[in-house]
Amino acid sequence: MTLSSAPGKVYLFGEHAVVYGEPAVPCAIERRARVEVQRRDDEKLRVHAEDLSLNGFTVEYDGTPGNGPDVDVSESLISAAMGYVDEAIAQVRDVTGEDDVGFDVTIESDIPLGAGLGSSAAVVVAAIDAAARELGVTLEPDDLAERAYQTEYQVQDGQASRADTFCSATGGAVRVEGDDCRSLEAPDLPIVIGFDGGAGDTGQLVAGVRDLREEYDFAADTVEAIGDIVRNGEQALADGDIAELGRLMDFNHGLLSALGVSSRSLDTMVWAARDAGAHGAKLTGAGGGGCIVALDPTPETETALSFTPGCEDTFRAELAEDGVKRLE
Ligand code: MEV
Repeated sequence: MTLSSAPGKVYLFGEHAVVYGEPAVPCAIERRARVEVQRRDDEKLRVHAEDLSLNGFTVEYDGTPGNGPDVDVSESLISAAMGYVDEAIAQVRDVTGEDDVGFDVTIESDIPLGAGLGSSAAVVVAAIDAAARELGVTLEPDDLAERAYQTEYQVQDGQASRADTFCSATGGAVRVEGDDCRSLEAPDLPIVIGFDGGAGDTGQLVAGVRDLREEYDFAADTVEAIGDIVRNGEQALADGDIAELGRLMDFNHGLLSALGVSSRSLDTMVWAARDAGAHGAKLTGAGGGGCIVALDPTPETETALSFTPGCEDTFRAELAEDGVKRLE
């Protein structure tokens, strides 16, 4: 049996624009997905998941088309979760050359599903790492990040950047621009998160931005302007200038909003944080619902969010220095 964990993340800057080759700066946070893997003596894949905002479910699945899992929760959530695990296992079969191997997989996570905190990337990174080790193969962080990216790319029909998976595999603050992925020095960031209890459909939101970009030159310019914000943001991060980081996050949120990926609850939480004196606030991840990230060293933003209608949960997040952790 092997057990690996991998962190979730927030985007300080650059989500969506990163899909079109602009840079992005995500930051790993100490909220983790843990995946335990046990080799089976048949070819089946059995997945048990808890705490994925799915009330827990168990499915036994042999990968045969039309012979899908028989469970009592929303089919779209099950097929989304199963799609990632299935493809992660396909990557492990490929990298180890063991085409017919089966596994029992148990997933536990404190990252809400589809809420912009990188739950799927964390599950995929931890699952590939644990399943490969169960077969005696320990992947280097870059290979692990590559396999995890290929997983997201397949499941999301080719609409994925390397940002989420690289950040989860390596930890810390990272910069991703196309295929170029690197770690960044980051100061201690006073990160506060607000969660509206909802989730967005990443595929649909990414497709919406793609359509706008194709239809309007000014939408394409907006995507490029996000790239400019990220380049300024990198400098502010290097200078440890939290006030400037906040201003740029506010700007980034405005442009994401113009691209149609914010929502009333995300905007409400962003404004609650700003009114409470946060240096800045923005949605994080694909948007449509889920989480915002704000910078505030005082308790004011957390207090304000806890009284904001539509905000279901608020918490402080520490930067996760480590990416994947090998626990057993
Ligand atoms: C989703 O977490 C981030 C997006 O930029 C998509 C991606 O980078 O794959 C919206």
